[in-house]
Amino acid sequence: SCSRLVLGIETSCDETGAAVLDETGEILGEALHSQKEVHLRTGGIIPTVAQQLHRENIQRVVQEALERSNVEPRQLSAVATTVKPGLGLSLGIGLEFSQRFVRQHHKPFIPIHHMEAHALTVRMLQPVPFPFLVLLVSGGHSLLAVARGVDDFMLLGHTLDEAPGDTLDKVARRLSLIKHPQCSTLSGGQAVELLAKDGDRTRFPFRTPMGQTYDCCFSFAGIRNQVTTTIIKKEVEEGVEQGTLLSCVNDIAAATQHTVASHLAKRTHRAVMFCKANGLLPSDNPTLVLSGGVASNQYIRKALTIITEATGLHLLCPPAKFCTDNGVMIAWNGVERLREGKGILPPNVDVIYEPK
Ligand code: KG4
Ligand code: ZN
Repeated sequence: SCSRLVLGIETSCDETGAAVLDETGEILGEALHSQKEVHLRTGGIIPTVAQQLHRENIQRVVQEALERSNVEPRQLSAVATTVKPGLGLSLGIGLEFSQRFVRQHHKPFIPIHHMEAHALTVRMLQPVPFPFLVLLVSGGHSLLAVARGVDDFMLLGHTLDEAPGDTLDKVARRLSLIKHPQCSTLSGGQAVELLAKDGDRTRFPFRTPMGQTYDCCFSFAGIRNQVTTTIIKKEVEEGVEQGTLLSCVNDIAAATQHTVASHLAKRTHRAVMFCKANGLLPSDNPTLVLSGGVASNQYIRKALTIITEATGLHLLCPPAKFCTDNGVMIAWNGVERLREGKGILPPNVDVIYEPK
């Protein structure tokens, strides 16, 4: 093929991912090793464990992606790798591997910002012209931004404490949802979504924070605090041990999910109004892109649909496998940068790890 080929490598958190894409965004081959099951068992990510698992898997994952795409390293036009943000120990493995790889094969190196990659993934699947509004929500991030170009983002808001996925994971752990038969293999967010289906969200009217804060930032710690207080109260009432509540787990899950969803919806609504007031979005087909692991939550999607329908925006959400971390989104970001000739480094440049 005469199209340029990019190898993408992702190790910022708990997925070791690699993929080879051509310039049109066609996925020629991909491989992914997830550590999620391990971290679920230890009740959260232990950075040294994550690092060790990346170390054990990176070589094989990259090799598999290359083999599946039937591409030799010499045929690549560039290697793109996540360099920030993320867990330092995890990022280090991908960066070290990539730097060795590009030196060995004399390939240009494209350092990738993980959030930029999440935001751009949708453009691999369909034409979405700049500018567009983007909401990224996962276990590690929560932000609202206007994507104005491949390397041009206007940050409108970010979380002041924890990310919504992290909140859902912590609530799920506090309720020991992993011990529920239907939830044993689910992430915290998935478990909350499942149990919430049979819950009454009105039984616990949690408050959404920051009603008087005139920006688009988020805060989830206060929501979690209200939920935890309620759980403790119910445990005392029932006279049961911590994490063994029986009677109202579904209602707590439903109320938590609803409160997280309304907070996200309210802050997104503010962002839309701000964009409209300042002419930051096109009048023709303005778009909100929703991505990140939490975006697969149907209740949260519905809440955002209400906002986009009320404000005349078009809501786009990539399929779940492209919303979560993988090598494909990193390779795609590499393609976008290669096309515009932005941020491409020669093979021998030392890229130093930066956490933020
Ligand atoms: O994007 P992701 O796979 O990894 C990063 O955090 O970067 O997102 C994982 C997060 C976890 O916190 C998980 O609980 C949450 O996304 N999540 C969900 C759902 N599926 C995954 N949260 C709410 N509803 C879901 N269906
Ligand atoms: Zn991510």
